[in-house]
Amino acid sequence: MRVLVTGGAGFIGANFVLRTLAQRPDVEITVLDKLTYAANPATLESVADRIDLVVGDVADAALVDRLVAAADVVVHFAAESHNDNSLADPSSFVQTNLVGTFALLEAVRRHDVRYHHISTDEVYGDLDLEDPTRFTEATAYNPSSPYSSTKAGSDLLVRAWVRSFGLRATISNCSNNYGPYQHVEKFIPRQITNVLAGVRPKLYGDGLNVRDWIHVDDHNDAVWTIIERGEIGETYLIGADGEVNNRTVVETILELLGQPADAFDFVTDRPGHDRRYAIDSTRLRTELGWQPQYLDFRSGLSATIDWYRANPDWWQPHKQAVEANYAGTERVIG
Ligand code: NAD
Ligand code: DAU
Repeated sequence: MRVLVTGGAGFIGANFVLRTLAQRPDVEITVLDKLTYAANPATLESVADRIDLVVGDVADAALVDRLVAAADVVVHFAAESHNDNSLADPSSFVQTNLVGTFALLEAVRRHDVRYHHISTDEVYGDLDLEDPTRFTEATAYNPSSPYSSTKAGSDLLVRAWVRSFGLRATISNCSNNYGPYQHVEKFIPRQITNVLAGVRPKLYGDGLNVRDWIHVDDHNDAVWTIIERGEIGETYLIGADGEVNNRTVVETILELLGQPADAFDFVTDRPGHDRRYAIDSTRLRTELGWQPQYLDFRSGLSATIDWYRANPDWWQPHKQAVEANYAGTERVIG
């Protein structure tokens, strides 16, 4: 099976490539990645001779047409993925997440190739902390940020291409991922590497916002489950019942690294900050038989801390620029 993985040099895409090569000898992988600031080609170094890495843009219709024509399956991870960046400058989000997805859909349509679209739970907006409900496949779209609105738009393009052109496509909307090889701009790696670098972790607002954490390997196993057993045209929510508030995550990181649990700063809140995400993944579990393997967030977090401690060469070159960028917008408030 020939699989085209867009965004395969980023966090989730690279984990998908490494895990697929380790578990599926029948799969040949081509990665299409623009190698933006978010990519780290070092992640793929150990498999460089087993994949075809094409450096290019998903919005480049001619390039995408050629690569899609040679694939049996396309898994579309490539995106601008960070909410804070989308608030500073949304333009690349519109270009990559909407125009890039459009270019892929047109190529997939021309060549009748199986397509899986990677998306996020943020398309559903947010929930109150006290709300007893969780997101399901039936929840109405209500995105809050430039990032999540472009992801929502890309999902709607896929749905329209399925209905109008009979595209052989599926969509998955997953909750917050953690694990190795995640860029240090994101919450968990930022706080782990802050503590490792002797800097106090930074919590936005009151620190009570809730995210529904899932290990990246569980996400990627779910993606393969959907590719192999998902119903064409359908959407599946991916989540591992991992709701935790941000303050608890920071306190756990501090504790696991031997620091006082209160050695963090509150900083100015993210504009429009979604309060809570929560996924009900019953459909994926009951219809397709997927189950997460990482059931204990604390031990998954501990393994992730060990990975960052053991791999400073992977993250240190990016740390200073990320912190300089945050310093331009955030202010300590407590
Ligand atoms: P990431 O930012 O770590 O990686 C994105 C990758 O896409 C990078 O390698 C980057 O170079 C590449 N890319 C960006 N623009 C491109 C373009 N125009 N052409 C080709 N390549 C381009 O992102 P991630 O966290 O790995 O997220 C991957 C996907 O999963 C995204 O679609 C995101 O919306 C979705 N998702 C992420 C999470 C999460 O918690 N990180 C949760 C649910 C869904
Ligand atoms: O829900 C899935 C989404 O999860 C994905 O679609 C996105 O691509 C991914 O980036 C992530 O979005 P979030 O905005 O939830 O992730 P982030 O890591 O930026 O922040 C997680 C939470 O932590 C959020 O409530 C904001 C907060 N935060 C973040 C940073 C960087 C802090 O309190 N301090 C920080 O320094």
